[in-house]
Amino acid sequence: MLPKFPDNFLWGTAISAFQTEMGNSEQSICSNLDWYEWANNEKIKSEKLVSGDRPQDGDDFWDLYENDFKLAKSLGNNAIRFSIEWGRIFKDETFSVPGEFRRDERGEPLDFIPASNTLEKLKQIADMDAVDHYLNMIKSANKNGLKVALTLYHWPIPLWLHDPIRAHMNLDNAERRGWIDGSTIEEFAKYSYFASLIFRNLPELWETINEPEVIALNGYLFGDTSGFPPGLSSVPLAFQVERNLAFAHNLAYRTLKKNTDRPVGIGTSPPYFEPAGEDRRDAEMADTARYMNNEWILNAIVNGEFDNGLTGKPDEKIANFGGSDYIGIDYYSRMRVRYSEKSTYASVLPLEFLPCINCSDFQWDIYPLGMREVLKWIYRKYGRPMYILENGIADSKDEKREEYIISHIKALHDSIYEDRLDVRGYFHWSLIDNYEWSSGFSKRFGLHEVDYVTKERKRRKSAEAYERICKGMDI
Ligand code: BGC
Repeated sequence: MLPKFPDNFLWGTAISAFQTEMGNSEQSICSNLDWYEWANNEKIKSEKLVSGDRPQDGDDFWDLYENDFKLAKSLGNNAIRFSIEWGRIFKDETFSVPGEFRRDERGEPLDFIPASNTLEKLKQIADMDAVDHYLNMIKSANKNGLKVALTLYHWPIPLWLHDPIRAHMNLDNAERRGWIDGSTIEEFAKYSYFASLIFRNLPELWETINEPEVIALNGYLFGDTSGFPPGLSSVPLAFQVERNLAFAHNLAYRTLKKNTDRPVGIGTSPPYFEPAGEDRRDAEMADTARYMNNEWILNAIVNGEFDNGLTGKPDEKIANFGGSDYIGIDYYSRMRVRYSEKSTYASVLPLEFLPCINCSDFQWDIYPLGMREVLKWIYRKYGRPMYILENGIADSKDEKREEYIISHIKALHDSIYEDRLDVRGYFHWSLIDNYEWSSGFSKRFGLHEVDYVTKERKRRKSAEAYERICKGMDI
């Protein structure tokens, strides 16, 4: 029997636009995205950076959202998290749209000051049919009793800002370099401004950027193994991108706060980095991995503190920078860290990760107590309300999902009632199977299985456990 959770606790599932929207109809296809180009490019496929599966053969959530919200409702959920697609709303560039930036002495943008006609100009460029479609989506979710956690940006960026193939092949020759360029921060501010005025208080919760550290580290540091665009491997570039994403969050946060009363926050994806043994150096390396992976970006986004020199301590503090009303946590697994001089992690740290003990299809180590540890650390360090914005398992046979769900939600309960942490919601990843980035359709995270040919959804058995929990029933 699971004890009760707080009143008003949000129970939901999470999906993202690129991973679910595209499918049967022409309107569902959104091709002017860096990720679309990347996943479909012959050279990138031949380098085996991506699976070869086509995102345009996906779930067709764009057309089937009403059906999918009913599935969510039948789980006893009162919330759902999804994202809107920047490049779908702005198929064409927004460079010419007026607006000013308040800048620091280095010229970096700290605030966006729209002109009187900024909104009008943005409306002229935006695909207003797509905007209406998103508005209808939110209404439909609400009609099904689901409050919406809306993510502004879950990874793909418009092609007019990023040419991932050129950037991959020769960065110096690439004109559009995505998050390396300051112009991407500025256009993101305009997009945020537009979205804030269109959607205002319709979402229950706003998330600016999903996992900035994953965009930066997977794209620019672990590029040759992660399969994320633009597939590069450079420490300075990765942290330049993290810095730029922190600035982008800051502009979006400030803009959103002017136009919505809803909480606005960031989402991050901390694994539980656990020392593999008793050796003091294992513990040091676990701390370092945690710092580089999550603390660096949270210090910047939540406190305006930057460790530009990567020394382990901030060397720059920006006044009145950013903030986050809550911290969204996407927790999946534990990583056991061992000090090792032989192995180098990302060519920089002397450590290795031990293989999983209880493994998912992704070979990620299932470890519910890690969620409790991560929540404790983040709450003690940053003191913000928290939401689990993602938690789930790649398990195509649905053999481990039920146990995964129950054990993680029990750990979450302990976090709230024993550790006294302020956690306000849980979103299971995912409602339906979806496009798992460079791994394509092979990894199955859904509470509902999807047949990608017929687009049929079939409830997995483990969904029942989640339904019972959400409905406050015995399990
Ligand atoms: C991402 C999702 C992804 C999931 C599983 C998260 O980090 O936000 O887009 O599908 O991990 O890999």
